[in-house]
Amino acid sequence: MLIHNISELKEKKELYKASLDKQYKKVIVCGGTGCVAGGSLNVYEELKRLVEEKGILAEVDLEKEDQGIGMKKSGCHGFCERGPLVRIEPEGYLYLKVKVEDCEEIVEETLVNNKPIERLMYKDGDKVYQTQESIPFYKRQNRIVLEHCGHIDAESIQEYIAHDGYMALAKVLEEMTPEEVCEEVIKSNLRGRGGGGYPAGKKWSQVLSFPSDMKYVVCNGDEGDPGAFMDRSIMEGDPHSVIEGMTIAAYATGASEGYIYVRAEYPLAVKRLTKAIEEARAVGLLGKNILGTDLSFDIHISQGAGAFVCGEGSALMASIEGERGMPRVKTKRTVEEGLWRKPTVINNVETLPM
Ligand SMILES: Cc1cc2nc3c(=O)[nH]c(=O)nc-3n(C[C@H](O)[C@H](O)[C@H](O)COP(=O)(O)O)c2cc1C
Ligand code: FES
Repeated sequence: MLIHNISELKEKKELYKASLDKQYKKVIVCGGTGCVAGGSLNVYEELKRLVEEKGILAEVDLEKEDQGIGMKKSGCHGFCERGPLVRIEPEGYLYLKVKVEDCEEIVEETLVNNKPIERLMYKDGDKVYQTQESIPFYKRQNRIVLEHCGHIDAESIQEYIAHDGYMALAKVLEEMTPEEVCEEVIKSNLRGRGGGGYPAGKKWSQVLSFPSDMKYVVCNGDEGDPGAFMDRSIMEGDPHSVIEGMTIAAYATGASEGYIYVRAEYPLAVKRLTKAIEEARAVGLLGKNILGTDLSFDIHISQGAGAFVCGEGSALMASIEGERGMPRVKTKRTVEEGLWRKPTVINNVETLPM
């Protein structure tokens, strides 16, 4: 169903929020790669089956405003070594190393009788940590970019919208010029997270300053550093935040096409991003005249084959263009001549969520 303009988006947000509030419990099963490898999808299916059997499953279609228990498949909670994880809200219980055999007890004890199951909780000696937030690992974390990871259904655009998703885009389209957006990002001191730390707003305003019939926004999700999974966590757990950030970058720079370059070894990230792009297109948050404005922008996914060097901007762009992924000698900077020799913003995944 198309969202025609910004006021409709705001109405939808209120509707989805009200529907979410009616879910008197939320069961958030970690659907990040680590927990999936440990069997979390089987846990999710079994919990869902049992909740459905009891007739207390809230519809995933938030517009129906059903009361009941919401079942969600989230992105990584960050505590992979203790996965598969299941979080129960509103209590904030976190169950660790959950198996299919534990599901019946979780449904009976926690979802029906409102009782915590201590044997599944984090312990230190005799001390049992009842809530996720009280666990030392989480206690001192202040999540900004990862705010939604582990808290919302990573496969639902409705949930993203209910949590203020696409509101930053609405604000820039409604209230700001592209120059003002660049200025705001410069003022925020946001620096690129891909390693070089280049000021993001400065890069955007440079792309804006070069007139061209075509400009691009490229999201660098190659994440070549061994053992690093921060980009993957965002792409799997909050894909719409990347899409929204790229769309804001497009508005700020005058770009009309975007690419997310993601390594093929991240199949779950590819799946979630693909679904999120399709959902965003279906409601008019990508494509022609986004939210009834003059902004037209669409995103494609380009999969890398896992070469470390393809994380470097010019090699990455050669790879998107179908060439061998090798760094190019640059006579001009990417902001002036990037993808297909057109002005291009390239930002790391972590730089983009706004
Ligand atoms: C050998 C090499 C590998 C790189 N790998 C990555 C990478 O995996 N991810 C990334 O975002 N940037 C990587 N970069 C940096 C990119 O070239 C580019 O500066 C960055 O994507 C820009 O985004 P940012 O301004 O948001 O940091 C690499 C650079 C070099 C020289
Ligand atoms: S994948 Fe589940 S906590 Fe990281």
